[in-house]
Amino acid sequence: MRILITGAGGMLGSVLSPHLKKCGHEIHSFTKEDLDVANFALVKEVCSSIKKIDLVIHCAAYTKVDQAETEPALAYLVNGYGTENVALLCNKLGIPMLYVSTDYVFDGEQTRPYTPWDATNPLSVYGKSKLAGEISVQRHLKDFYIVRTSWLYGPYGKNFVETILNSAQQGKPLKVVSDQVGSPTYTISLASIIADLIQTERFGIYHASDEGLTNWFEFACAITKHLGTEIVPISTREMPRPATRPKYSALDKDTLTTTIGRSLPKWENSLQDYLQLRMSKENLAYS
Ligand SMILES: NC(=O)c1ccc[n+]([C@@H]2O[C@H](COP(=O)([O-])OP(=O)(O)OC[C@H]3O[C@@H](n4cnc5c(N)ncnc54)[C@H](OP(=O)(O)O)[C@@H]3O)[C@@H](O)[C@H]2O)c1
Repeated sequence: MRILITGAGGMLGSVLSPHLKKCGHEIHSFTKEDLDVANFALVKEVCSSIKKIDLVIHCAAYTKVDQAETEPALAYLVNGYGTENVALLCNKLGIPMLYVSTDYVFDGEQTRPYTPWDATNPLSVYGKSKLAGEISVQRHLKDFYIVRTSWLYGPYGKNFVETILNSAQQGKPLKVVSDQVGSPTYTISLASIIADLIQTERFGIYHASDEGLTNWFEFACAITKHLGTEIVPISTREMPRPATRPKYSALDKDTLTTTIGRSLPKWENSLQDYLQLRMSKENLAYS
C-alpha cells in the first residue's frame, strides 16, 4: 500500500513508519514541520501531491493532557479541526483513513472493559478534543479505522517509563498513583497491530493495547524491578493533576483479535522487550 502518515515525528509515528516500510508498504511520512494538520490548504496540497494514496494514518495530535486544560483552543485546533481537515481531504480523494484515538474518551465509571460500542464520556479537554476528532472521521468517511489505545510508551518520546527511570536513577523518592487502572502499551506492539489491521480492510472502531491490566504504581514497580527503587503508592486525591483521568480504562479487544486473527502481547513482556532495547542501546553507546 501507498500510505501517508501524519505526526511521523511523534512517539508512535517514529516507530510506525519504519515498521510499515519493513512490511513492504510505500511510506510517505510527514512530521509537524512538514505538514501542520491545522492548515487546511497545506493538507490539501500535500495529499494531492502524492499519486494514488491507499491509506492515511493520522498520528498527529496534541497530546499534552494536563496542559490542554489551560489551552483548550490549541487542543481542539489540532485534535478536532486538524483531524477534520484530514478526514475532509480523505473523503474528497476517496482515501480510507486510520485515526489513532485514546482510552481517555471514556469516563472510567464502568466495571467491565469498554467495548468499541460503549458510550463515550471524556473527562478532560484532551479526551474531549480526541473525541471531536473521532466524530469528524465518522461524519466525513465511510471507510475508516478508529484505533483507541492506552498508556503508550516506546523509543523516541517522553513517556511514563522514561520519567520513572530518570527519577529512579537520580535517587528521587517516588510516589505513584495506584487507583487508576489500565493497560500500558508498547508503541512497537501498536505498530504491529496497525500493520495487521490495515490488511483486513474491515473498517470500524477498534480497541488496541497490550494485554492485561495494571495500575500506575504497579507499572512503576515493574519498570524499576531490578533497581531496588522504593516507590510509595498514593491515591489520585493525594496528587491532583489539572486533567481528570478515567480511574478504569480497560479496553475490550475481542473485536480486534477476531479481526486480525491473533492474540496480543502481555504488557509485562512488552515492557521487558522495551527495557532490553534500552539496555542494548546504552551498551552500544558505551562500546
Ligand atoms: N501517548 C499516549 O499515552 C497515548 C495514549 C492513547 C492514545 N494516544 C494517541 O496516540 C497517537 C500518537 O500519540 P504519541 O504518543 O505518538 O504522541 P506524540 O509523541 O505527541 O506525537 C504526536 C505528534 O503530532 C505532532 N503534532 C502536534 N501538532 C501537530 C499539528 N498541528 N500538525 C501535525 N503534527 C502535529 C507532535 O509534534 P510536537 O510534539 O512537536 O507538538 C508530535 O510529533 C495520538 O493520536 C494520541 O492521541 C497516545
